[in-house]
Amino acid sequence: MIDLLAVRSQFPALQNRCDAIFLDGPAGTQVPRRVIDATVHYLTHCNANHGGVFTTSVESDRIIEDAHQAIADLLNAPSPNEVIFGQNMTSLTFHLSRSIAQVLKPGDEVMVTRLDHDANVSPWLLAARDAGATVRWIDIHVEDCTLDLDSFRKQLSEKTKWVAVGLASNGVGTINDVATITREAKRAGATVFLDAVHYAPHGPIDVQALGCDFLACSAYKFFGPHVGILWGRRELLETLPCYKVRPSPNNLPGRWMTGTQNHEGLAGVAAAVEYLASASPLPPGEGPGVRTRRERLRQTMAGIQQYEQTLSRHLLQGLAERPRFRVLGIRDVNRLNERVPTVSITCKDATPQRLAAYLASKQIYTWAGNSYALEVSERLGLEPGGFLRMGLVHYNTVAEIDRVIRALDEMA
Ligand SMILES: Cc1ncc(COP(=O)(O)O)c(C=O)c1O
Repeated sequence: MIDLLAVRSQFPALQNRCDAIFLDGPAGTQVPRRVIDATVHYLTHCNANHGGVFTTSVESDRIIEDAHQAIADLLNAPSPNEVIFGQNMTSLTFHLSRSIAQVLKPGDEVMVTRLDHDANVSPWLLAARDAGATVRWIDIHVEDCTLDLDSFRKQLSEKTKWVAVGLASNGVGTINDVATITREAKRAGATVFLDAVHYAPHGPIDVQALGCDFLACSAYKFFGPHVGILWGRRELLETLPCYKVRPSPNNLPGRWMTGTQNHEGLAGVAAAVEYLASASPLPPGEGPGVRTRRERLRQTMAGIQQYEQTLSRHLLQGLAERPRFRVLGIRDVNRLNERVPTVSITCKDATPQRLAAYLASKQIYTWAGNSYALEVSERLGLEPGGFLRMGLVHYNTVAEIDRVIRALDEMA
């Protein structure tokens, strides 16, 4: 279970702005002290380019290797060399999509969803366009914003070469059954790309159990710095055509890591994973070092899932009693395991932008618009205004939700 006081005390932003309620996690979470310290330590003591023979460069290499191993542990990747870093998920996905456009052929089909963030849609639309491939859309059930698996199955065929799906919706919070989609897509012969950006701070990820071919996430959404992450299956990373400069290495992971990386950010990435690994208390009588980091991560993420369901329940129940607001997606508190605590609403008599500005005046930080979940916003008929998104993570509290509900009640 999560020790809330111990968690909150590690986040300087939560102390510095103790009157603020941070519900902006889906656009970037706050960072614990150890992430800040690791970043400052890198710049103070190790700042150098990598691959040199002198002390700071050797130290830089070690820090970069640590970051690869930390993410391999977080995702259960078979090798740290299959972990690629870059500026952010969007840039890495566009980077990969250029390569995919080289291997798709006219007549091939690419599948995307009406639920995903556009960073897991547009790169594949453009790759399909460049290759002359056909795009197929996986639809949603509008009443609860879950993926329509019938629409997926009806369109899946031996022509399907690429399937891109998110683990969880950054717009409405739905957790998708990506294990089933991956299994069926792979059986049909497709390659599967999963977007775990929104899901990563909320639950455990295991690329081997999922059976996917690629999975992307972003450290700034799981308590780390602004660094993008792409895991890929070794055979694919080694054999796909890759856009790179000639002198850069042809082996993994260097083949896909274009240019000089954000080394201080990578120091922070490793620290963010270490934060998560140590965020749940050791069982009584167990000393440090008994469990692997992967096991400790699994324990923390299970604790986070359990705690966040309490937050979702509290917020959904509060909103259910207030007909002025409509919750998008899953509202049923018996289905909390099908959603993360990202709760988006519309209001009968106020735009999302007015709601966000009003809440900001009460020091409650939310987002208005479509949060780049363009397709679902359009499908629900909410464009151009979108919705108001309240994104909770494990450092948020029930008391904060009570304050949010009170503020909503007081809105003129
Ligand atoms: C689900 C999802 N996918 C992709 C992205 C894009 O991530 P990045 O900002 O790292 O490019 C986001 C960002 O909000 C997201 O929520």
